[in-house]
Amino acid sequence: MPERMRVITIDGPAGAGKSTVAREIAQRLGIFFLDTGAMYRALTLKVLRQGVDLEDEGQLVEAVQETKIDFGRYPDGKVKVLLDAQDVTEEIRTMEVTNKTFYIARAPRVRAIVVKWQRDIGSKRSVVAEGRDVGTVVFPKATHKFYLDADPEERSRRRIKELREKGQAVDAGNLKKELEERDHKDLTRRVGPLKRAEDAVVIDSTHLCADEVVEAMLRHIKYG
Ligand code: C5P
Repeated sequence: MPERMRVITIDGPAGAGKSTVAREIAQRLGIFFLDTGAMYRALTLKVLRQGVDLEDEGQLVEAVQETKIDFGRYPDGKVKVLLDAQDVTEEIRTMEVTNKTFYIARAPRVRAIVVKWQRDIGSKRSVVAEGRDVGTVVFPKATHKFYLDADPEERSRRRIKELREKGQAVDAGNLKKELEERDHKDLTRRVGPLKRAEDAVVIDSTHLCADEVVEAMLRHIKYG
């Protein structure tokens, strides 16, 4: 990695606030925001559309090899996710995609391809990457690593609020159960499981607002 380039990683469970914080840090530092979850989500949307057998890793790999995922920007600065040049920013956030992403995320050969894409992006420019394995597998030599956690109750409260603000009907009990299932799958996956890197700074956001987390991270980046 050239001297001036920086890779900042933020791992943690769903709903800990990684995206909000990573986006803000990227903006403040003027570097690229790499949303790795969006890549697994976009690939899931692709295989769902194609009707691929989600249990068949060979078919998943074939579909992934024919796919191109890009990140663009809307005029207001919001990140745009492009699947084979088509804007899928909103579509990849549906409950269906969210709950089926584990098929793509658990397939070792798929992960090997996606990790390579992510490293390619990080080798060309400074990035803030967020996900589950960005500090452990994707960028083990990152300049700054964070593990952002929060109490499960608080994480499901945040997800419910976020979905309701988008106008989606949410069953709170169901959402909590789905979040727990997703945590379990992320933690127990054989490849690229959610894990704190030994050299990551742990921040618990349960009682912190996004700004406070951003400030804490920026202090570490500056002085750590
Ligand atoms: O972070 P987000 O909720 O958008 O991620 C969607 C899913 O993609 C997660 O539930 C996780 O299973 C998977 N993922 C992953 N590795 C990453 C980022 C996300 O397996 N680095």
